[in-house]
Amino acid sequence: MPQRIYNFSAGPAVLPVEVLEEAREALLSLGDTGIGVLEHSHRGKAFVAVYEETEALCRELGGIPANYKVLFLQGGASSQFFMIPMNLLTPETTADYLVTGAWSQLAVKEAQKFGKVNIACTSEDKNFSYIPEQATFTPGAAYAHFTSNNTIFGTQFSGPPDYSGDCLIVDASSDIYSRPIDVAKYGMIYAGAQKNLGPAGVTLVIVRDDIVERGPATLPTMLQYRTHAKNQSMYNTPPTFGIYLMGLVFKWIKKQGGLAAMETINQDKALKLYRYLDGSRVFKATAANDSRSMMNVTFITGKPELDEKFIKVSQKAGLDGLKGHRSVGGMRASIYNAFPSDGVDALIEVMRAFELGLTD
Ligand SMILES: Cc1ncc(COP(=O)(O)O)c(C=O)c1O
Repeated sequence: MPQRIYNFSAGPAVLPVEVLEEAREALLSLGDTGIGVLEHSHRGKAFVAVYEETEALCRELGGIPANYKVLFLQGGASSQFFMIPMNLLTPETTADYLVTGAWSQLAVKEAQKFGKVNIACTSEDKNFSYIPEQATFTPGAAYAHFTSNNTIFGTQFSGPPDYSGDCLIVDASSDIYSRPIDVAKYGMIYAGAQKNLGPAGVTLVIVRDDIVERGPATLPTMLQYRTHAKNQSMYNTPPTFGIYLMGLVFKWIKKQGGLAAMETINQDKALKLYRYLDGSRVFKATAANDSRSMMNVTFITGKPELDEKFIKVSQKAGLDGLKGHRSVGGMRASIYNAFPSDGVDALIEVMRAFELGLTD
């Protein structure tokens, strides 16, 4: 088998090797069942045990209160962009959106199809390179929505915005379970799994019971949260492999020491990279200092042709996925939970050598 290389992809992204090794065994036989994990009925005893363990670990790690449901849905985080307003917004009501990047903009676009949207704040004036300090919320709004980590622009909220309404919703796709989260502050937390939690194809939704019940019963059945809540995400065939793998990742996070330990590990990785960038004469971090993401470190040289050259050099050195998102260019190092610290050291070494080559 070829050697594994450092994968800085923004998602789907690197997974812990021990998780992949266990999954490899389970492809042929889940435990001693003689049936592979992909082949088990979702209603059979073996898979139901997997499901229950994944949910229990998710609850334990996140400290999820009993009045919240944990759902494993399909359609990606992007389907939540419309499912949320379909369930919670009407033409007469308003939802507040904090717009800090391309994903928030897409969420707004969907919400506008169902009701009024108030842009509570935006950082578009500076190409989404910072997190606004303040937001203006609408009294009596149906909910407020924000994106905790902006995967494309490399910015991250340090915590939830100061919100006094009853339903704060977060798209946590690119920083879910990378640090502790106070679930009780939210009406809903959602995330596509493919960055911090597992493979593409499963979306984690943590939602408070009263919000589950708010959606009109006239919506298509699959688009009502209550359908999935009532049926333990098994109204139809759930994404079984994704749920299984997410369970393995949760076990791995627990072994690292849980979310607080994960946060320390993630900060160590990101801060050494930012430290290097701050001292560099060639590379420069693009996000404002107080808004820097611990998950996606975006940086540039200032010259697109030099960026391109660096990306080629990095690929030759076995570092993959450093090209910035097509809408912003430059470089992006995605260093989610499972990204190893020595991969960050390797990137710094390659940058240092590149810099020396230019300035010698
Ligand atoms: C913050 C954020 N939200 C939403 C999405 C869209 O997720 P999906 O591809 O699962 O629909 C992404 C994907 O990268 C993301 O980074």
